[in-house]
Amino acid sequence: MSALLEVQGLTRRFGGLTAVSDVSFAVSEGEIFGVIGPNGAGKTTLFNVIAGHYKPSAGTATFSGRGISGLRSDVIARLGIARTFQAVHLFAAETVAENLRRARVLSTSHGPFAYLRSFGTGRREPDLRDVATFVGLGPLLDQTAGGLAYGLQKMLGIGMALMVTPKLLLMDEPAAGLNPSEKRAASALIRRLRDERGISILLVEHDMPLVMGVCDRILVVNQGKPIAIGSPDAVKADPAVIDAYLGDDYEFA
Ligand SMILES: Nc1ncnc2c1ncn2[C@@H]1O[C@H](COP(=O)(O)OP(=O)(O)OP(=O)(O)O)[C@@H](O)[C@H]1O
Ligand SMILES: [Mg+2]
Repeated sequence: MSALLEVQGLTRRFGGLTAVSDVSFAVSEGEIFGVIGPNGAGKTTLFNVIAGHYKPSAGTATFSGRGISGLRSDVIARLGIARTFQAVHLFAAETVAENLRRARVLSTSHGPFAYLRSFGTGRREPDLRDVATFVGLGPLLDQTAGGLAYGLQKMLGIGMALMVTPKLLLMDEPAAGLNPSEKRAASALIRRLRDERGISILLVEHDMPLVMGVCDRILVVNQGKPIAIGSPDAVKADPAVIDAYLGDDYEFA
């Protein structure tokens, strides 16, 4: 497997606070790669820097061999990196279909000719119905997004990210707020994204059974700094990880 995303010494400061501190890792093509750590560890900030919402204070990110640090978020989206958000971001008064359509235009747009620039990236324009069916919203295309149950709103968030036909999907806490059966569905969906769509995944999640069950490798961060990287079994047995995050009485379902 070759590296799809390579992050080297990535750092992001906010005034005196270093939210992301000298983080390095590589995600292989076809990998489901987890990032875990306590609240405030810098996980969302790391996503924001990779996706171009924040500029790095130091370090680099390379995607498919191309340097992406410092590029605008719409440019990075067009290169094939999409993301889902920790909080649901959707147009509540509009239908599922309209949200998916808007996601395609908005995430890749910047300036009047943005739509034209989306041509020539070599990736197929996704079919709205196909995406809706994939995330379990096929029969609900004409429903108002704000009226959907929370779990379905989160699925719509994933569908919206798929509208840019990503090669890499950054998922920020996809299981937060879901009930146990919705969590199982989310976990299956993450696997299907990789297995059926060939999308590599960078996953931030606090639900440990889900993370440990679905990830190939995991990076653990604490106070912005990487403290461990490895297989789920290696990471959950690592004393530094138990000390900083998992706790002594941690057990798996
Ligand atoms: N735009 C910002 N300006 C100033 N500080 C910020 C900004 N964004 C994040 N931070 C700070 O950076 C640190 C890391 O925050 P971040 O949201 O990345 O953590 P997290 O690991 O995603 O936490 P959680 O698990 O609670 O979502 C926190 O101390 C936060 O307050
Ligand atoms: Mg976060």
